[in-house]
Amino acid sequence: MLLASRDIVQKTDEAWYWLAGISGVLFVGIMATLVYFVFKYSRKRHPQAADIHGNLKLEVTWIILPTIISVFLFYKGYEGFLLMRNPPENAYEIDVEARQWAWTFRYPEGGVTSSELYVPVNRPIKLNLTTPIDDVLHSLYIPAFRVKEDCVPGMWTYMWFEGDKVGTHNIFCAEFCGQDHAKMLSLLHVLSQDDYNEWLDKKIADRFKPVEAAGAMNPDSDEINACDAPRLYKTYCASCHGADGQGGMVEGARDFRKLEKWKQGTSILDIFKTLTKGVDGTQMRAFPNLSPWDRFAVAHYVASFAQKGRTDSTLEDCAQLIAEYKLDKPPVVERVFPIDAAMEEMAAEAANR
Ligand code: CUA
Repeated sequence: MLLASRDIVQKTDEAWYWLAGISGVLFVGIMATLVYFVFKYSRKRHPQAADIHGNLKLEVTWIILPTIISVFLFYKGYEGFLLMRNPPENAYEIDVEARQWAWTFRYPEGGVTSSELYVPVNRPIKLNLTTPIDDVLHSLYIPAFRVKEDCVPGMWTYMWFEGDKVGTHNIFCAEFCGQDHAKMLSLLHVLSQDDYNEWLDKKIADRFKPVEAAGAMNPDSDEINACDAPRLYKTYCASCHGADGQGGMVEGARDFRKLEKWKQGTSILDIFKTLTKGVDGTQMRAFPNLSPWDRFAVAHYVASFAQKGRTDSTLEDCAQLIAEYKLDKPPVVERVFPIDAAMEEMAAEAANR
């Protein structure tokens, strides 16, 4: 009984080699016959064309042979497909949210999220995939494990794999999803169980660290910068505001080095609110897909471009943020299917009529 993730790899490769092999044999056979017939039945040698009406043997052959080949290839693919669709019961489940143009991985422990995927070795991993209802189709692709699955707005899909040794692999988005599709890359880190626990503990500790301790008043804080802020900035902000915060990559994108000229001020609070709500009538959109903690980190990172390297945030500002956005509490991860919710609402409305 095949069960393991490496069997998916084996079955996928097998199916591919069969397909490529059969295609190769057919291609060579057909081309050789073609060339031979061109020679043999040229007008010079066969001035009179034969008029053939039906050939039972030939017709039966060309129906039965391709049918056998098709069914055989279907079976080869089906074997691997069955494995892919049946994750082991004890799989470790991680939620994945795709969005233009980044991945967010959400772990079952303490609301931990990351933009690269970390998993323990020798443990089946089930990924539950989705895309927000206002986004577009994406597709998570991990070539090393031969798995790929669409991420559909408002729907949950799944896939599974198991890393059988420690290592790092590529993750791609395999569905054209707009301007930065090609940059929608990530990495899969397969860690030893000990390293994984350590990584997770650190993420949990970071998450619940009192915000003040994270250097709330210091944009150059290592802790803030360690919070994936540079990566988040590169992913979400740099295409408009530039790698160095110089702005102007699209019309109206602000120069972060001149933060003091912002109308609404230059506090972390303001930047955080801008990230949370967007700015109406501009290309600056809201980023509700980033956890509050990540938005907070990005706000600090953005502030760090200001030439003075300081902002006018006060401890009260930060306290307000913490209270308003519950930064000190683990976020509740709700498994709501937006489409289901909308359907229920419509059903309730119809019933009330
Ligand atoms: Cu997301 Cu392509």
